[in-house]
Amino acid sequence: MTAPQPDYLTDHDYPPVFHPEQAPGWLAAVLVALGHPAPARGHWCELGCGEGFSAALLAAANPDMRFTGIDLNPRHIATARARAKAAGLDNLEFHCADLRDPQGLAGPFDMIVTHGVLSWVGPEVRTALAAFIATHLAPGGVAAVQYMSEPGGAAFRAFHAVFRACAGAPDPVAEGLARLAALREAKAGFFQMHAHAAQTLDNLLTQPPGYIRHEYMNATFQPLAFGEVAGLFSDRGLVWRGSATPLDNIDAASIPEQAARSLAGVRDTVLRETMKDLARNQALRYDLFTRPKAPAGDEAHLALLRGVVWALLPGAPPPAALTFTTPIGPVEADPRLYAPLLTRLAQGPARFGDIETIPPFAGRPGLLNQALQMALWAGIAHPLGRAPRAPGAARLNRLLLAEAAQGARVPALCAAPLGSGRAVPPAQMADLGAGGGPQALRALFGLDRG
Ligand SMILES: C[S@@+](CC[C@H](N)C(=O)[O-])C[C@H]1O[C@@H](n2cnc3c(N)ncnc32)[C@H](O)[C@@H]1O
Repeated sequence: MTAPQPDYLTDHDYPPVFHPEQAPGWLAAVLVALGHPAPARGHWCELGCGEGFSAALLAAANPDMRFTGIDLNPRHIATARARAKAAGLDNLEFHCADLRDPQGLAGPFDMIVTHGVLSWVGPEVRTALAAFIATHLAPGGVAAVQYMSEPGGAAFRAFHAVFRACAGAPDPVAEGLARLAALREAKAGFFQMHAHAAQTLDNLLTQPPGYIRHEYMNATFQPLAFGEVAGLFSDRGLVWRGSATPLDNIDAASIPEQAARSLAGVRDTVLRETMKDLARNQALRYDLFTRPKAPAGDEAHLALLRGVVWALLPGAPPPAALTFTTPIGPVEADPRLYAPLLTRLAQGPARFGDIETIPPFAGRPGLLNQALQMALWAGIAHPLGRAPRAPGAARLNRLLLAEAAQGARVPALCAAPLGSGRAVPPAQMADLGAGGGPQALRALFGLDRG
């Protein structure tokens, strides 16, 4: 049998990126918030893992679990393997394989994540990706599937068309950027109609060329409708459970009030989510799928919630000044909820069951659940990890700081106390590498341990 021809570019490397939604603790906390048991802390797998940056951070932060990354690009896999070896991460492996022909990958996997793949490949690979998940997901497992969605993502097909049309230029990325910038300057109708296009262009101007090539110069760039993606998975026996982006599970904070009223009484999941996508002009979705299982009853749900331990993240804003910047505008955080919550977490990590006894939350676990999910989404609080002193985390961080000092792009460091990674801006990365930076961050990254 001949190997499938890649329908994705392989001649340029995708830069390292970290996605906190892929962390086992994040996925577990979101599932539990939605009323489903957390998956086992067994085997995690990323489909289309690029250079395996997220996989490396998460493997170092969760040494009690196993991690696997799969990607068709041999250079990506070579970089990923070299980093894992240098950091001595023996719970992490990478496979160079096309998802249409994933030989030698047995599974089952308790968590399967994929980011930046589904909207950038043709229907054959999309189907193969869904089939892989349906075949390899453990019975209690979860799949987190990110893609560019209709209708908000559709706007960027216009950018894709411009970059693709520049493919013959000596430097297509620079050419495409210059053409788009000129159009914006000229107040082109596209930029007038799509307020976020200018912001996206500004962001692109700060990105390495490899990022832009992968995002906009593949043959396919297809924002997908929720119904199409949900159908791919439901045809294979998997059930949509919600979003890995907590904000998208909270209508009160993510849907304009009037639009929310038009959703009242809509029970059909596909129609409801499609209407929500229109209400939010949703550009990106991060859908969670599991095998069919009845959601936990109220008592069981409470028991699941009460088991999660939450920690405040360094740099959390004072509760009085807290405003959530959401895609539908600023949402003021109610200080009657967030002041006691953040004050309690500032004293140290706390179990949901303990925070629940504080007056505004007593007898109102739903309110606390929502407040914690907003805090998770906003990067203020996070579930506690299982291995605060993971030695692999400190080794990996020292390696990454050395790479950053050499000018490499290092978007995040491994935060073992959270079982995750944490984004670090370049200036702070330099301070940390030079032995400085805030003490709370040095502790989070295990930088002063022998
Ligand atoms: C945009 S990059 C995203 C990388 C990583 N998931 C991230 O978010 O940083 C997409 C990755 O998917 C990989 N990919 C595309 N099609 C694939 C296929 N059919 N099988 C395996 N990997 C694939 C590409 O090589 C690339 O590394």
